[in-house]
Amino acid sequence: MPPISKRTQRLGTEHAFVVLAEVNKLIAEGRPIISFAIGQPDFVTPGHIIDAAKDAMDAGHTGYTASAGIPELRSAVAAYLSRTRGIAVEADHVTVANGAKPFIQYTIMATTDHGQGHEVLYPNPGFPIYESQIIACGAVPVALPLVEREAFSFDLDTLRDKVGPRSRLLMLNSPHNPTGRTLNRAELEAIAEIVAPYPDLWVFSDEVYSQMMHDGEFASIASVPGMAERTIVLDGASKSYAMTGWRLGYAANAALAGHFATWITNTDSCAGSITQWAGVEALTGPQDEHRKMMESFTRRRNIIVEGLNTLEGIDTLKPGGAFYVWPNVSELCALCGAQDAEALRKRWLYEANVAVLADRQFGSPPDGEGHHVRFSYATSEENIHEGLGRLETWIAKAKR
Ligand SMILES: Cc1ncc(COP(=O)(O)O)c(C=O)c1O
Repeated sequence: MPPISKRTQRLGTEHAFVVLAEVNKLIAEGRPIISFAIGQPDFVTPGHIIDAAKDAMDAGHTGYTASAGIPELRSAVAAYLSRTRGIAVEADHVTVANGAKPFIQYTIMATTDHGQGHEVLYPNPGFPIYESQIIACGAVPVALPLVEREAFSFDLDTLRDKVGPRSRLLMLNSPHNPTGRTLNRAELEAIAEIVAPYPDLWVFSDEVYSQMMHDGEFASIASVPGMAERTIVLDGASKSYAMTGWRLGYAANAALAGHFATWITNTDSCAGSITQWAGVEALTGPQDEHRKMMESFTRRRNIIVEGLNTLEGIDTLKPGGAFYVWPNVSELCALCGAQDAEALRKRWLYEANVAVLADRQFGSPPDGEGHHVRFSYATSEENIHEGLGRLETWIAKAKR
């Protein structure tokens, strides 16, 4: 067999999809699994958005579009970002793609060169595709540990130590997957001050959960004075409008928009035309369904945090956004003889019929951080109560 490239052999993955395949297999075998593993809203896309897609098909919007996206959607995204970030975004600063995810690769490709020692700083734990793409693109990964004693915010001293003249890109994500942590304006200002002396550094601000705040106001680093020019703001329809399968993401940066469009010409040609028209309706149409989903997520957040904190050996901080909670299970691992969070995850799946993800699915756990698992509470209140009940019963039996 001819050789397979090292780049491909080293390619990381989103382990959530691997665990999901494991969970789905068990469900197909008839196991009554309660799953907290999947990171997508359990709602269907609002009806008026679906109708807009049908109208687009009936109107014959079925061909290629410009690689950067249809003007109507680029304008809608520009208006939405200007309004919610308090910065002046113009339609030609915006590029749309098949999901937010492709912009991770486009950004690394557009800001670093292969094998040149260009460093990319990224959060650990974090969305696993960051690290995987940094390596695949031939840049140097520099993990920034998010630690529990700082409530999973950046340790600013570590950022100060690790940023330098070789840094080309800083990746931020707020609200954060997997911890649910949100960065407030003061924290973003402190980060901006640290990176200010490095003119070669871009900031990639992954804000796909920006419309999913439970407490406080969303803040973007792009709105900190002096940062808009060097920040790529990333958002998308997947989470806010329950549109994960439609594939729609959008990024804004004045200098990079044209380069992103060229990357899209080189890869997908354009985002799906029908999805783009649905996206116009999502951003400009009524927002009541989105608001209802968020009220539901906040109620679920409160139930799961309170429930987890009553379980023996589990301790969790209250997340401010997204639909994830990241409890510390170190004490429980010791109590039940589980070597680490991955061992606990497997035992919960096979012995308690409860599916979660383990910390190692989001990077190598930073030293001294103990063990964590991720619950996605994008599932019904009934399932949350049932899942918590199963864990309580399991812990009572499993503790030594
Ligand atoms: C932090 C983060 N960024 C990006 C994405 C990708 O979103 P999309 O479905 O729009 O590609 C996800 C999806 O889980 C995510 O959690």
